[in-house]
Amino acid sequence: MAAGKGTRMKSKLPKVLHLLAGRALLQHVMDTAAELSARQVVVISGHGAAQVEAAVTAAMGADPRFDLQFVRQEPQLGTGHAVQQALPVLGDDGVVLVLSGDVPLMRAETLQQLIAACAGTRLALLTIDFADPTGYGRIMRRGDTVQAIVEQKDASAEQRAINEIYSGIMAVPAAPLKRWLARLDNKNAQSEYYLTDIVKFAVADGVEVVAHKIADALQVEGVNSPLQLADLERAYQRRTALQLMEHGVRLADPARLDVRGSLQCGQDVAIDVNCVFEGQVSLADDVTVGANCVISNATIGAGAVIHPFTHIEGGKFGSKDAVEVGAGALIGPFARLRPGAKLGTQVHVGNFVEIKNSSLADGAKANHLAYLGDATVGERVNFGAGSITANYDGAFKHRTIIEADVHIGSNCVLIAPLTIGASGTVGGGSTLTKDTPAGALSVARARQVSIPNWKRPQKTK
Ligand code: UD1
Ligand code: MG
Repeated sequence: MAAGKGTRMKSKLPKVLHLLAGRALLQHVMDTAAELSARQVVVISGHGAAQVEAAVTAAMGADPRFDLQFVRQEPQLGTGHAVQQALPVLGDDGVVLVLSGDVPLMRAETLQQLIAACAGTRLALLTIDFADPTGYGRIMRRGDTVQAIVEQKDASAEQRAINEIYSGIMAVPAAPLKRWLARLDNKNAQSEYYLTDIVKFAVADGVEVVAHKIADALQVEGVNSPLQLADLERAYQRRTALQLMEHGVRLADPARLDVRGSLQCGQDVAIDVNCVFEGQVSLADDVTVGANCVISNATIGAGAVIHPFTHIEGGKFGSKDAVEVGAGALIGPFARLRPGAKLGTQVHVGNFVEIKNSSLADGAKANHLAYLGDATVGERVNFGAGSITANYDGAFKHRTIIEADVHIGSNCVLIAPLTIGASGTVGGGSTLTKDTPAGALSVARARQVSIPNWKRPQKTK
């Protein structure tokens, strides 16, 4: 169910597309569904339907794990009405698992247990005890069996005192679900078609209704407001930080880490405060990450040191645009590695150095204030302070090749396309437009002139 507006988010974006840990709320739910090997996944969209459908298709459309379909619920007349819209695309056999697009941290194991409780014949409800059950549907029991769910707004004072609530998630056999939904009405406090009313019909038909009660509140918590979203984000990040630490990763502060994707760590990895990891990042053994680094889609080799305030923004992991940093490399502080930066072992990249779509072979250095774009840099090259590759002529990008053991002085402009021959030296302040031979000293700047006894102009009264 992803048709609701999410009024309390006060946002133009449909609620289910708001991000938790870098992924849309709905995407978390879709990923969980994918883990269950469901035959079909049906997304019920309504508010912002086109936007929701486009986002899901972009993220999951080609996912081979399931057959994805969309149905629209317009207008939105309640959760029962929502599920009614999906019936035409559902078969009569099998079990329907109803999930909420705004409950992102539900785990696949829990849903497997719920499906097991349904056993193909029962109506199984996922429930939990809340000290403060306000707002939720209450579970009415007679002994072990559930008799009804009463919504907050329809509940008597006595019913409101019940702490066991319905999570919004159920597993139900498809055939009776279809029969029961056909009988719903909207004679209730909200004039909505309640999915929860099917419990009464199941009881009347003699179908057993079971509650699968869990204790982990995080899994059933929904997002209705920016505060709830932020709270859930912190809870998610805390869980991720604890998992990393269990694996031996040393986090300076588990409360100051954000993983928006997946982070793989080897042994003896240490991460200082306020680091953000996005997409897929892998840190090999003995990597150290300084404070305030943002690292996306990158593979960092063993023993590399990423100094504070470094920004690594790789393109899609596994593509040529992902960033690679070799073993023993020293990066930053204040370095910027953009898509397609490939650094060999022991490479040094210092402050205010930007590298884009360029490879630096083993032992190459660019320690201060430099730009390397569309460059192939050989082993042990030293690229001087303030030097740049001028890779763009206003229409096209061109490559610069700097062969092994070249020394580029400070403040040089290498106008691509250009090749600097192996072991060559380029004098500081040079602007090079032509290839240079191996081993040569190349200087391209005006010769220095000194005029003796130079008299500076003077002001007369
Ligand atoms: C629902 C349950 C309540 C439960 C609670 C758990 C009903 C009648 N009540 O209440 O028992 O305790 O969830 O969070 O089911 N949606 C649609 N179309 C609609 C209405 C809702 O797609 O017409 C979607 C929403 O986008 C959301 C989900 O269904 O993802 C739940 O809707 P919401 O309005 O939050 O239901 P609650 O009143 O919270
Ligand atoms: Mg709700």
